[in-house]
Amino acid sequence: MANETQLDVSHLVFPLFVMDGSGIKSEIKSLPGIYRFSPELLLAEIESCMNLGLTNFILFPAVADALKDTTATYSYHPDNFYLKIARDIKARFPECCLISDVAMDPYSSDGHDGLVRDGAIVNDDTLPILAKMSVAQAEAGFDMLGPSDMMDGRVGFMRQALDEAGYTNTGILAYTAKYASAFYGPFRDALDSAPKSGDKKTYQMNPANRREALIEAELDTMEGADMLMVKPALHYLDVIKELKDSSNLPIAAYHVSGECAMLMAACRNGWLDYNKAMPETLLSIRRAGADVILTYFAKDFAEMVR
Ligand code: PBG
Repeated sequence: MANETQLDVSHLVFPLFVMDGSGIKSEIKSLPGIYRFSPELLLAEIESCMNLGLTNFILFPAVADALKDTTATYSYHPDNFYLKIARDIKARFPECCLISDVAMDPYSSDGHDGLVRDGAIVNDDTLPILAKMSVAQAEAGFDMLGPSDMMDGRVGFMRQALDEAGYTNTGILAYTAKYASAFYGPFRDALDSAPKSGDKKTYQMNPANRREALIEAELDTMEGADMLMVKPALHYLDVIKELKDSSNLPIAAYHVSGECAMLMAACRNGWLDYNKAMPETLLSIRRAGADVILTYFAKDFAEMVR
């Protein structure tokens, strides 16, 4: 009766990695229990999640090196396998909520989220590329787009491009406070997307800064974001609370790959009890103020409560 915080499958979003080919289900070594799926096996995975009541997904493509270039042209190529699988998913499961990441890194030969020129990321010239990617993803049927690239001004730029193309109903989940974190390692293994040189500190946030997140939140809100996200989650619970207290938009938190991998490693060693530590972890992110949690534990949690 006095329980203050609820944790339900409906709050969770399951990140899924997809790669071209067939019959592929390959485990990510640094994120045990999480796989890259070829399209037909991804559909089967989504079906088994839907049967558990888990209906929210965010997709990431693992793109072959040969298709990567400096301007991420594959991201909006008509033959893009990722856009095709999105169409297939929405045709088969129209009731699911399908989110896409928007950033150049899975398609960039430089491994950066923005355009690289003379060793630096050029913010404004990245925006038209993100806009093309966004329109292609909306056209493919994604319900929400999540710009994770952290370029300044991209939410407004994307919103305008989407509206002009007629996709007024496609939502924007803004990666508002995304930090230059060490906890993205397993994700970059999954996509083979680590930066070829340099780091992401000129566009992702300084882990020392909390108040700066409020500036980012204000900008994303004015530019038309439908939801604000904090990333990572566990190491930034104070930032989640800060945004929850200061915004009336729904707040999402990305419980990132490295945060999940730490817990999995301890549990697989028998040092922690997964069935207790995992839900407590998710509950703590909810308690901090997250309405929505993106987590690699989403399916396990759905299975557990079932
Ligand atoms: C890239 C992107 C990253 C993640 C989501 N989108 C990695 C990065 O910024 O290098 C990380 C997610 C995770 O670690 O689970 N645009």
